[in-house]
Amino acid sequence: MGCLQGKEKEAEEAVVTELPESKPKQVDPRLPFDTYRQLFNLRNSWKTVARNLTETSKDCLIRYLKKYPEHKAMYRGCANLEDEEAMRASTSFENAAVPVFNLFDDVMENSENVDIAIAQIGMGATPHKKIKGFRTDYLKAMEEPFIEAVSVTLGDRFTDPTEQNFRKLYQFVIQEMIKALGGETPPEEPQVEADKESLPTDQEDVQIKL
Ligand code: HEM
Repeated sequence: MGCLQGKEKEAEEAVVTELPESKPKQVDPRLPFDTYRQLFNLRNSWKTVARNLTETSKDCLIRYLKKYPEHKAMYRGCANLEDEEAMRASTSFENAAVPVFNLFDDVMENSENVDIAIAQIGMGATPHKKIKGFRTDYLKAMEEPFIEAVSVTLGDRFTDPTEQNFRKLYQFVIQEMIKALGGETPPEEPQVEADKESLPTDQEDVQIKL
């Protein structure tokens, strides 16, 4: 009896020691995070943003359009929204603001299924092809409004490492959007030069007078 118990104990110990050591979790190398801890922390911070998704989205677009009021006309039903109060109250504005953060939410959800995350970013990028006057520089220009809106939502929890993680996330998403849009929009023709070319030359002017 005593002997059997001893054997069972040995067997139990053997099972315990033979269990494979759990490997430290790895970040998919396509993501911009150096350690799994960074991604884990970001996902935790994101939970707070996700709980306040509509407000944070609106705050981001309000900040963006304060900097670039001329871009308001691109958004359906938003051209006549005069001030922040009108923007916050408008359903069209909410419908324009929320898809941005919904896409980040999908990416966070699929941060361990990066193929799916990249496919979702591609689908989110496609509608921008049809927006008249849209340029990929605008995606870069939204980084600061995005970070500011997230910082307001997170309050004290928005530490320096958190900010770095959010910037990495933002840059990853827009880099994939730009790829899906076929690369960066080429620089615009300098307006002054174009205008000069269309002006009549002195010679033409003389000919007209003659
Ligand atoms: C990371 C940044 C951005 C993300 C993730 C994003 C995402 C999206 C998504 C998913 C849609 C599709 C909405 C839908 O049809 O349901 C959309 C539409 C749109 N986006 Fe973006 N966007 C971003 C930045 C920008 C910027 C900087 C502009 C600047 C003008 C912009 C302008 C628009 C416009 C005009 C629409 C159409 C909205 C409408 O239907 O009126 N987006 N965006």
